[in-house]
Amino acid sequence: MSILVTGAAGFIGFHTSNILCKSGFKVIGLDSLNNYYSVKLKEKRILKLKKDWPKNFKFIKDNLYSEKKIFDLLIKHKITIIIHLAAQAGVRHSLKKPMDYVKNNIVASTNLMEASRKYNRIRHFLLASTSSVYASSIKMPYSEKDPADFPLQFYAATKRSTELMAHSYSHLYGIPFTILRFFTVYGPYGRPDMALYKFTKNILNNKKIDVYNHGKHVRDFTYVSDIALSIKKLIKKEPIKNESYILDKKISFNSNAKIRVLNIGNGDPKELEDYISKIEKYTKKKAKINYLPFQIGDAFKTYANINKLKKLIKFSPKVKIDKGIKNFVEWYINFSKLK
Ligand SMILES: NC(=O)c1ccc[n+]([C@@H]2O[C@H](COP(=O)([O-])OP(=O)(O)OC[C@H]3O[C@@H](n4cnc5c(N)ncnc54)[C@H](O)[C@@H]3O)[C@@H](O)[C@H]2O)c1
Repeated sequence: MSILVTGAAGFIGFHTSNILCKSGFKVIGLDSLNNYYSVKLKEKRILKLKKDWPKNFKFIKDNLYSEKKIFDLLIKHKITIIIHLAAQAGVRHSLKKPMDYVKNNIVASTNLMEASRKYNRIRHFLLASTSSVYASSIKMPYSEKDPADFPLQFYAATKRSTELMAHSYSHLYGIPFTILRFFTVYGPYGRPDMALYKFTKNILNNKKIDVYNHGKHVRDFTYVSDIALSIKKLIKKEPIKNESYILDKKISFNSNAKIRVLNIGNGDPKELEDYISKIEKYTKKKAKINYLPFQIGDAFKTYANINKLKKLIKFSPKVKIDKGIKNFVEWYINFSKLK
């Protein structure tokens, strides 16, 4: 079975490709290697995948802007499963550069869906989305039944749009989709624009860290191997009927889309201050904190209800925050020595 993993040089794409190759799947990893953050880190991830899995992993540098090129790739590699992780991520960047999100989330996903429709052999299309789509909801924990139609920033708006695009492609052309709503993912090889990386780097270099909302943010931090393992287990669980709407019997609808929405989180939210104290524990240094006010577009709290995920794949997250941060700090210290 050949699996296309888009965004394979990215943080989650790297870990997902690794776990899939380890389980014997053939992975075609595609990524544009864009410069939103360190291209070197992306290249290092790809080099490691190529070195560890010379027979199972193949890398293609492409930006998903050409539907024809994607169509040819699907045929050439006899792809049956797509794990679409490529995207312009980051909430704060979306306030400055909205067009990056239109190109890499809306246009790139449309090309991939349209090429899949023409190719007509995709058995399961797994599409990365985000807990940010719930951000205006005050009910906790976030359940897949909750409304997600009031995104508070443009990143979430484009991610929610791709979910809706998937619904229409499934309804019209029968492509089975699973929408993966990830909750703040962290771990080794993590993203330099995310809090854990920035905080660890600055704490180790005795520099101040910027902490918004006076450290009172609460996040359902989810360890990356739990995400990758969940994705692997979901591959063979393609939805056979519309699961996203039947959940709520009060909603009447007329759709035969084979689509499912799933929270992939930890189900155990933590305050940012706890997170920082664990970084201090493993860096053995005290953080110098620059407390800042709440930032427009941020969510105060995220908290995943993961009952649906647990039931479907009989799996719940394994890595606790203490161990997860320890693993990250150890990785970061080695990684920064290599640079
Ligand atoms: N990391 C998180 O906490 C988190 C949380 C919620 C959702 N997500 C979603 O999960 C997915 C993976 O996130 P990540 O943290 O690994 O991000 P990442 O930025 O590390 O990875 C995304 C990769 O996609 C590539 N890419 C971007 N546009 C592309 C295009 N047009 N064509 C080909 N490649 C392109 C980038 O070069 C990058 O390597 C994204 O869809 C993101 O929105 C991530």
